Amino acid sequence: MTEDASAKKDLAVVKGTKDILPKEVESWRALERLARETFELYGYRELRAPVFEATELFVKGTGPTSDIVTKEMYTFTDKGGRSLTLRPEYTPSVVRAIIEHRLDLEVEPMRYYYMGPMFRYDKPQKGRYRQFHQVDIEVFGEKDAAVDAEIIEMADSLLRKLGVAGTETLVNSVGCRECRPAYSQALREAAGRRKSDLCPDCQRKAETNPLRIFDCKVESCQIVARSFPVIQDFLCGECLSHFNALLVFLNQYQITYRVEPRLVRGLDYYTKTTFEIVSSHLGAQNALLGGGRYDDMMKDFGGPNICGIGFALGMERVLAVAELAVPKRKSLYLAYLGDEAKRTGLELARYFRANGVECLVEFKNRGMKAHFGRANKLEAAWVLIVGEDEMKKGRFGLKEMATGRQVEGTREELLAFLRDK
Ligand code: HAM
Repeated sequence: MTEDASAKKDLAVVKGTKDILPKEVESWRALERLARETFELYGYRELRAPVFEATELFVKGTGPTSDIVTKEMYTFTDKGGRSLTLRPEYTPSVVRAIIEHRLDLEVEPMRYYYMGPMFRYDKPQKGRYRQFHQVDIEVFGEKDAAVDAEIIEMADSLLRKLGVAGTETLVNSVGCRECRPAYSQALREAAGRRKSDLCPDCQRKAETNPLRIFDCKVESCQIVARSFPVIQDFLCGECLSHFNALLVFLNQYQITYRVEPRLVRGLDYYTKTTFEIVSSHLGAQNALLGGGRYDDMMKDFGGPNICGIGFALGMERVLAVAELAVPKRKSLYLAYLGDEAKRTGLELARYFRANGVECLVEFKNRGMKAHFGRANKLEAAWVLIVGEDEMKKGRFGLKEMATGRQVEGTREELLAFLRDK
């Protein structure tokens, strides 16, 4: 490899990360806009937390037996000797912010949303990146299963607006601190009986947190896991009635769902409801969004005893299956001839921009024909013509590129014409 080629390789984008280029950004913005609009209809407000946090926040929040904490965190020591981590998910940050700012004492409903990058050191593949983007929502202080159903309905409504078809909604309950220990014990015993059929990772999980075996992607482990007891047989009265109430509300919303008893999700904090919406149009990484209830996190962080529930949507995955109608930009290209026309043109561009018209101005010496060629390439909607004649008259030509129609007028008249369009 030449020195140049090797330098280029060294400076290339890091594995598992991606540039989002201008031609893709329009659909990202459409997703962001629709997400904001949807969540605000349900009373959510945006909460922006930092990109990195104390490592301990995720160890305690996301959970010490999760794959995220054991294998996937971008952790570093800063110059002050403090262990920090690039957030692998958003939920613990929101809980921390509530405690820190005593948001529970405010009048507003505790409903928050956010969108931004997350970081996980996982094996990159289609639909799985090391820097990826989530849209995240969280609700606090609502015990009623009606809110569990409402957030699923809200997710469903957003996906519909995004033109996402071919989805399936999976729901489950993972019980609570009362009933889960007996289930974990039953799993541990079942795993113990099939130990030799499990991968080394699952053999370890059988000891630390046997529910995690359900997350294993090794096919033989999945086959074994299918023979394990199901949690529904172990739920305590409260968890069972919460789960049944969720299903009633989902029916009321006419959400089609499937109860998936093995949906335990990869994070340690869930209690009661867990859910995912998966796509039949994606490969192995088919979860468009996932979430659940986490009633113990706030008090485990030393805060008030307030329950929580939320979900996060993977933006890359949703955009891969969304059918978004991205509106075409309408811009005006400035075609000027000579230095004086350039000065007048700049004033005109300033005037049009101040009045909300997007103007494309390039500082290259071009003849009129070349200007039109360039405007065509840029797909400008209009060309504003500023030549000597136009300057003398104080009236300028405006050509509509799609129709070839040309009008003439003062800048005020042209602005009125553009506004009409
Ligand atoms: P999660 O299931 O880890 O949950 O992630 C949510 C979504 O983020 C996934 O369904 C997927 O679409 C996307 N995602 C996750 N990892 C990657 C990756 N490496 N590359 C691309 N997309 C990815 C959470 O993060 C929880 N905080 C959700 C939650 C909020 N639970 C309660 N509140």
